[in-house]
Amino acid sequence: MNATVPKSVQISPHRLSQKRARRALRAVVGSLPVRIAISTPVCNVLLAAVADQQERSGPHGTALTRTGDDGRHGNWRAGAGRWTGMELKMREGYEGTGPGAITPDGCAVELYSRLPIGEEPDIIAAAVPRGAHILELGSGVGRMTHALLERGFTVTAVDESPEMLERVRGARTICGPIEELDLGEKFDVVLLASFLVHAGDAEIRRGLLRTCVRHLAEGGSVLIQREGEDYHTNVPRERVDPSGFTLRIVSAEPVGDGVNSVRAEYEFPDAVWTHTFRARPLTKEQFEEALRETGLRVDEYLTDDGIWVRAVQAA
Ligand SMILES: C[S@@+](CC[C@H](N)C(=O)[O-])C[C@H]1O[C@@H](n2cnc3c(N)ncnc32)[C@H](O)[C@@H]1O
Repeated sequence: MNATVPKSVQISPHRLSQKRARRALRAVVGSLPVRIAISTPVCNVLLAAVADQQERSGPHGTALTRTGDDGRHGNWRAGAGRWTGMELKMREGYEGTGPGAITPDGCAVELYSRLPIGEEPDIIAAAVPRGAHILELGSGVGRMTHALLERGFTVTAVDESPEMLERVRGARTICGPIEELDLGEKFDVVLLASFLVHAGDAEIRRGLLRTCVRHLAEGGSVLIQREGEDYHTNVPRERVDPSGFTLRIVSAEPVGDGVNSVRAEYEFPDAVWTHTFRARPLTKEQFEEALRETGLRVDEYLTDDGIWVRAVQAA
């Protein structure tokens, strides 16, 4: 076992890692009749051991098993799933295919490393105080993080995929599910982009928004990226990006309880990635109600299409 924490596993000391390490240790030693207390260094060593195991198993290794998928697409890497003890798990209804690691919500690490960033960092920069400390939830490989750092902001980047975070430069990184995050810190700005607020599971959405509230400094703001109005209805559609790939939203099929299974394809000259995910369409009223139930309110719709929103604490 490699006892040093590889650079690629940037696990910060917070409660979540403790929980995961505890579960991992239980899986190794069986159920113990005593409470397991794990220090952060031990926690990191356990995570490092798993990373080491992954590394040894090669790019398509299955040293750890993933649940909730039959492996038909054959592109899964051991590090791509969520932890459940020594197992890794995809989020239900989420799937990705294509080269490289896939995150629990079906995103491809290699794809996000290639995608260009648009005008979003400027929209954010114009809506928050200069030099603010931004808590970025669901940072991926840091497309937005890096652009925000270039604009003079400080960023703490959170993602549950260590393989995504491995590619983030110049920011503190925190690895774990957003809905469980509790850093005991407050931020001027909390960023919840990439339509995460449309999580299929309403309880997850509440968890995401509660995390935003829990980490918001007094007078601070939460910046949220919502889906456009016709996101689920103008389907199929495609857009050819000037940088040389085609994005297709192939389908959005109801799977019950007001949730759609959306399938997207990204076609590059040398590779194709697909992403299937659960998304709950929210009208403006439903979105505002979702904010209200977690103690937030809309301060301003920042773009004419209503996609970018600045929210603040309600009372
Ligand atoms: C669509 S990608 C976008 C990444 C980045 N915001 C960007 O625009 O490049 C979504 C990212 O959020 C992460 N993510 C999604 N749901 C999450 C959750 N509940 N907790 C932690 N990370 C999550 C995924 O691992 C993935 O890296």
